[in-house]
Amino acid sequence: MVYHGQVFGVTGESIVRPFIAALGIRRDYRRRGIGTSLKIAAMRDMADRGLVGPTVSLVDRRNHAMLQLNTTRFEAKVEPDPEVFNDRIVMVSIEPVD
Ligand SMILES: CC(C)(COP(=O)(O)OP(=O)(O)OC[C@H]1O[C@@H](n2cnc3c(N)ncnc32)[C@H](O)[C@@H]1OP(=O)(O)O)[C@@H](O)C(=O)NCCC(=O)NCCS
Repeated sequence: MVYHGQVFGVTGESIVRPFIAALGIRRDYRRRGIGTSLKIAAMRDMADRGLVGPTVSLVDRRNHAMLQLNTTRFEAKVEPDPEVFNDRIVMVSIEPVD
């Protein structure tokens, strides 16, 4: 997993958001809740470092597993990326749904 503060917007109106750049679980360890746990840990760590607001990630529209994780485990807001056709912009709060 890779995560960091990411600048969004143009100069003068830019904001820094918590951002998850990459998350991958070895195939033989998937569907055990590890991806969800790592995502929560990343969000908590970024909040502890003063990165506030919804956590952003970019997910390919065909990545059913990651989109499902975000919608079943978090109250994810998912919208098309206006700049990259295949990307979906995913925003989640730090609180898990269950
Ligand atoms: C996406 C990924 C990180 C999920 O990790 P994981 O540890 O398996 O996820 P979890 O066990 O926390 O899954 C939580 C929920 O997400 C959904 N989910 C996860 N994998 C899924 C799949 N293959 N198909 C459908 N739903 C899936 C399910 O709702 C799952 O809950 P359930 O197992 O009770 O049905 C993992 O599949 C992966 O490493 N994929 C390849 C890398 C990748 O695509 N990373 C994201 C790039 S943006």
